Amino acid sequence: MIYQENEAKAGTCIPSGRAALVTGGAGFIGSHLVDRLLREGWQVTVVDNFDPYYDPAVKRANLASHRGHPGFLLIEADVRDREAWWEVPGSYDVIVHLAARPGVRASLEDPEGYEAVNVGGTRAVLDWAVERGIRQFVHASSSSVYGVNPNVPWREDDPLLLPASPYARTKVQAEELGRTYAEQYGLRFIALRFFSVYGPRQRPDLAFTKFARRMLAGEPIPVYGDGSSRRDYTYVGDIIEGVRAAMDFTDASCMAFNLGNCHTHSLREMIEALEAELGVAARWQRLPEQPGDVPQTWADITRAERLLGYHPRTSLRDGLRELHAWLRTRPLPLPLRKPCAA
Ligand SMILES: NC(=O)c1ccc[n+]([C@@H]2O[C@H](COP(=O)([O-])OP(=O)(O)OC[C@H]3O[C@@H](n4cnc5c(N)ncnc54)[C@H](O)[C@@H]3O)[C@@H](O)[C@H]2O)c1
Repeated sequence: MIYQENEAKAGTCIPSGRAALVTGGAGFIGSHLVDRLLREGWQVTVVDNFDPYYDPAVKRANLASHRGHPGFLLIEADVRDREAWWEVPGSYDVIVHLAARPGVRASLEDPEGYEAVNVGGTRAVLDWAVERGIRQFVHASSSSVYGVNPNVPWREDDPLLLPASPYARTKVQAEELGRTYAEQYGLRFIALRFFSVYGPRQRPDLAFTKFARRMLAGEPIPVYGDGSSRRDYTYVGDIIEGVRAAMDFTDASCMAFNLGNCHTHSLREMIEALEAELGVAARWQRLPEQPGDVPQTWADITRAERLLGYHPRTSLRDGLRELHAWLRTRPLPLPLRKPCAA
């Protein structure tokens, strides 16, 4: 376990006292949450192992601006490492567990590895939460738990979960684990089912960033299927609003929420929107549908609207503008450590 000790910088704000532990806080979604919490004056501890699924330098860059912030502590450790957990200092109001091995297609090649991190790792974090008496546990689940369920838009109380990949199954299993811990140990377990998150710092294996970089470089984009598959794309800023509200949610001991947009676009429409934003025509490299891919995702967000006050506001056009602005600050494509597809 490696700690990054902090050196307080003159003029930085003094933390207000609420403390959060964010696993996976160096990643795409996690680093946006860390930004937000530090701005609000939280004490934030990140546990992340800088997993090489994509270049760890990208993740270090995500957190670079917080080095030296008095409210920020980085612990470089694997969430499965129970010895490391016992050494984590401090007490926390809430855990936001985002660390996971992501990626539907890559999970087909290493289902055991995905299960070890996404289920075994979640169990280790839950055990630590119980041991430390931490009452609030917010967990990153996924729209993929619904899989090929044809009853769209998907509602959280639909019992028909038909995960179509090892990754999706790990998310179902982790939710079940959390439910058991809520019943047995009295911690509050909130599963947030994220829907196709995009925006600045998006993972390089995901379609928006991958396509945009290739289009800007004049390269063809790999399109699986005929472009008719539909996704409920959700801007990362809206997702962070939902995560933040879930951190304060106390009205049930166990609850799942869809954090989506409730507005779907086909892959073809998404590429057209990217073309308009980038001012570049995409050249399609047509590829067959991939195992594990699902034809559509579509969130019913009524529950999150009602109980979390979650109201996604960012249109695809505005979100792509933000993504494009960020890409301009990162002109070089960052290499993937492993070949992985969106
Ligand atoms: N991005 C999306 O569209 C999306 C959709 C649904 C669900 N999710 C879930 O949201 C969470 C965050 O996703 P993201 O897109 O930000 O991915 P990401 O890969 O950018 O972030 C995940 C972070 O977890 C860390 N991590 C991985 N394995 C770890 C381990 N064993 N120990 C400690 N840290 C580890 C990684 O280093 C990384 O920083 C994940 O749980 C993912 O499954 C994401």
